[in-house]
Amino acid sequence: MTAILELRNVSKIYKTGFWGHHVTVALDGMSLEIDEARPTITAIVGESGSGKTTLGSLLLGFLPPTSGTAFYRGKDLTKLSRGERKAFRREVQAIFQDPFAAYNPFYTVDHVLTVPISRFKLARSKADARRLMEEALLAVGLRPEEILGRFPHQLSGGQRQRIIVARAMLLKPKVIIADEPVSMVDASLRATILESIYKLHNDLGISVLYITHDLTTAYHIGAQIVVLYRGSVMEAGDTETIVQDPQHPYTRLLIDSVPWPDPDRRWGQSELKPRDGDVPGGDRGCKFAARCPLVMEQCYDAPPPLYQTDGTKRVAACYLWNQAPALGRERLPDFLAQVSSAT
Ligand SMILES: Nc1ncnc2c1ncn2[C@@H]1O[C@H](COP(=O)(O)OP(=O)(O)O)[C@@H](O)[C@H]1O
Ligand SMILES: [Mg+2]
Repeated sequence: MTAILELRNVSKIYKTGFWGHHVTVALDGMSLEIDEARPTITAIVGESGSGKTTLGSLLLGFLPPTSGTAFYRGKDLTKLSRGERKAFRREVQAIFQDPFAAYNPFYTVDHVLTVPISRFKLARSKADARRLMEEALLAVGLRPEEILGRFPHQLSGGQRQRIIVARAMLLKPKVIIADEPVSMVDASLRATILESIYKLHNDLGISVLYITHDLTTAYHIGAQIVVLYRGSVMEAGDTETIVQDPQHPYTRLLIDSVPWPDPDRRWGQSELKPRDGDVPGGDRGCKFAARCPLVMEQCYDAPPPLYQTDGTKRVAACYLWNQAPALGRERLPDFLAQVSSAT
């Protein structure tokens, strides 16, 4: 079975500054798959700078990998033919933080919906196109008569983001890559937008890659989670398992820092404190070693493999768990496939 989208051992290195002397490893040896047969919601979580947007951009074909390969249906994403690229543009949709950044503010919002309808020949007539647009807007909880004919600045951030979700719905893609889709939306509207993204998954069988710095929204939407730190996977697996009992020191700190709304949940419970790491570059070992309160000698030598600490539920990339069976990082897709079939 060929995945719709796949990263195979992909790294992305940015070189900036004078003669490219400043090197940032934004993503390091990442493997991930999105399968057609098994639609999933996967949350990619990590603080700012952990490589989440880079990961999404590689999967969307916006950036070429520095090493490794990104595939669309088994073809190298950087080498698609025109026809393949068109199919890719329909099957893989993006939702970004600032939904109208890519659109001309002098067009009415109808444009966002009419362009894909004509580009992908989704309607047989004008009336048919109108019906499709109205259906899509209603499906995301918008009233067509309040939306159509308006300009972007006449609508709220929440309405604009829902139009983008409606657009994704029209195209019936296989995959949606949503990079911080609710971080510019009022807190009161976040839940409804996340719900409409969840509905796309549930009703239409669309796989969602939900990229966020916000663990609470990941917890609410995601059946599985991948925690990134400086371009490497720290912990991955079933969201409930990880949030209730994080095992990687980084994830524990991340979860402790969240003011969970549930009063029964003790937070700050692990009493771990990050060290003030100097965060050196070119590190061979665990990316988190410099800040890890539980760091050991070996953490500086080689990146830890993925330890399967809970059978099929979760892996933690930390030597603290070296009694558990170890998987190479390239096995993450196989492991996540097990997690999703178990939930
Ligand atoms: N175009 C770029 N040029 C140079 N460095 C970049 C570029 N884009 C991102 N980076 C760096 O790569 C790292 C990962 O960035 P990014 O993928 O945007 O992370 P996130 O989305 O998790 O905040 C950061 O250190 C960031 O500064
Ligand atoms: Mg980002």
